[in-house]
Amino acid sequence: MAELDVRLWRGDGAGRFERYRVPRRANQTVLDVVTWVQRHLAPDLAYRFACRVGMCGSCAMTVNGRPRWTCRSHVSKVVKDDRLEIGPLRNLPVIRDLAVDMSGFFDKWQDARGRFAGTADRHQRPAPIDATSPARRQADAAIECINCAVCYAACETVAWRPGYLGPAALNRAWTLAQDERDGDGAARRAALGADDGVFTCHSHGACSEHCPVGLDPAGSIADLKRWALFGG
Ligand code: FES
Repeated sequence: MAELDVRLWRGDGAGRFERYRVPRRANQTVLDVVTWVQRHLAPDLAYRFACRVGMCGSCAMTVNGRPRWTCRSHVSKVVKDDRLEIGPLRNLPVIRDLAVDMSGFFDKWQDARGRFAGTADRHQRPAPIDATSPARRQADAAIECINCAVCYAACETVAWRPGYLGPAALNRAWTLAQDERDGDGAARRAALGADDGVFTCHSHGACSEHCPVGLDPAGSIADLKRWALFGG
């Protein structure tokens, strides 16, 4: 039977790759490979997944050097010479094996003021939103982010400057800057213009290149830079 030569990260941030032989199967995903190792060879292997269909964002890992969802990555598309190297996401502290600590990533959503602050109370009628307007359609697309942190792991600026808010939190802030019902614009503009905010981005574009759902955080950040300077 054909086999894959799989190297999996074991241990904490100071760990190492360990080798496993995994049977190759038709239509096998990278997550299937990790699960096979956990079930047959390494029951103590730590990793995350939930939906297995690209909806929850919890299964992201580094596969042959590139961050991606493992449940939606077919081995046949990513394998190199029957070899797979699977590690934890970059730019996040490793808890153990393939599981990273996401708390800093989500703290940055708070730092970017990535939550809706309504201005109406429950006695007012909901604000009419034109769902067909170009601005609304653009914001709707960016709202599809499922917080998988693939863009964050791909970002060279986060790697170089760990305090940088990063593409996911800024993309979320951008959707709120587009929302005329939101009343937190002044505070958000101040937060985004501060150190480690939007102007730290070097526009490499790795976030948009790697986003598994085809979002454009780099475009959101470029727009936020204008918004943070001039309003809108
Ligand atoms: Fe949910 Fe992969 S397990 S996105």
